[in-house]
Amino acid sequence: MTHRRRDFLRRSALLAGLSIAPRSLLRASPAPTHPYAPGRALDDIVSLADAESAAGQITPRDFFEFVQSGAADERTLRWNTERFQEIMLRPRVLNDVSALDTTVRLFGVELSAPILLAPTSSNRILHPEGELAVARGADRTGTAYVLSTLSNTPIEQVAAATKAPLWFQVYPRPELAHTKDMMRRAEAAGARAHCITVDSPVPGARNREERAGFRLPPELGYPHLTSRFEPGRFSLERVRPIRLVWAEVAELIAHATVPVLLKGIMTPEDATEALKIGASGIIVSNHGGRALDTVPATIDALPAVADAVAGRAPVLMDGGVRRGTDIVKALALGAQAVLIGRPYLHGLTLAGADGVAHIQRLLLRELRMALALLGCKDLAGVTPAVIAPRSWR
Ligand SMILES: Cc1cc2nc3c(=O)[nH]c(=O)nc-3n(C[C@H](O)[C@H](O)[C@H](O)COP(=O)(O)O)c2cc1C
Repeated sequence: MTHRRRDFLRRSALLAGLSIAPRSLLRASPAPTHPYAPGRALDDIVSLADAESAAGQITPRDFFEFVQSGAADERTLRWNTERFQEIMLRPRVLNDVSALDTTVRLFGVELSAPILLAPTSSNRILHPEGELAVARGADRTGTAYVLSTLSNTPIEQVAAATKAPLWFQVYPRPELAHTKDMMRRAEAAGARAHCITVDSPVPGARNREERAGFRLPPELGYPHLTSRFEPGRFSLERVRPIRLVWAEVAELIAHATVPVLLKGIMTPEDATEALKIGASGIIVSNHGGRALDTVPATIDALPAVADAVAGRAPVLMDGGVRRGTDIVKALALGAQAVLIGRPYLHGLTLAGADGVAHIQRLLLRELRMALALLGCKDLAGVTPAVIAPRSWR
């Protein structure tokens, strides 16, 4: 174990035990005086890129590579952000934008902004409070949090830590009965929607994570699973796809008592099929570039999917959203909301719930600026007309 990793884990354990540790023990193990210790002031983090680089300075390398890694040569990972940057905006002036409104209603629930927290596994490697801190961060900003099947904290505890709408991400397990039990358990805990991830019958070839030797620390586990699962072990054995087909997902949807979205849809054909089997929403996602490399950026896949759905259900998207202008572009091209993954993990690493809320606020601030500067007073005003035609180049 590297010195940095040991130091990080020691700090995490210390923070987790602060409230119960006797004074003598605290004196015997003084908290490491790291400049980026959780709870740090966040004034110097003025963009999501700042958070990424600050988190990169303190996170043990194997943990950071786990977060950052894309699949294989990471083309899709790069395209996800680059393709947003290539789209130009077309502002209108002198509209009344004095009363900005960024609220959005999804499945009957009003959110402060169209920015949700995407499901990410193993949050407790980054901060001792892990998923609890993410849930508290979502609470502070009034957004929804999609808890991963591969959370290190049980959904009952996460639900108790937040008033924010909680959704549950479902990784179907080899036995459908286990998947159904997991969904029931999430519903009983208060999950208001399920997102079934359909893009990962096998894990992607995450070479960067592999090279860094990422392993889940043995003291952490996956309380939603009944069988053992070890991330970061890329044996031939793992390339044994689980059987999951449309009929089974239809069965899961029929079993659910809350709306079900399918996460990981990239084509209009699959979006159409998803609605046919009863999905209540679509998440255009390539798993943050972590599954199949060289699939297009999600912002490029979005318009055709939105066309096929044609307003029959909410279309969400994730992958590479790093600026308020990215959100506006996604909305203009057919999304009702976006999700972010890595950025809130960087916030979590830096300052727990405060860090997660800070990332959300930075994006919301940028979204408000983008809306006002485009001449849009609310999200309904964001139409394809805010995208500049290619002829402007
Ligand atoms: C560290 C990490 C873990 C993830 N774990 C999951 C997961 O458990 N389930 C899932 O459906 N997606 C998972 N994802 C994908 C995210 O939900 C989301 O699609 C992606 O992060 C969005 O891209 P972005 O990181 O560029 O915002 C994970 C992503 C990261 C970075």
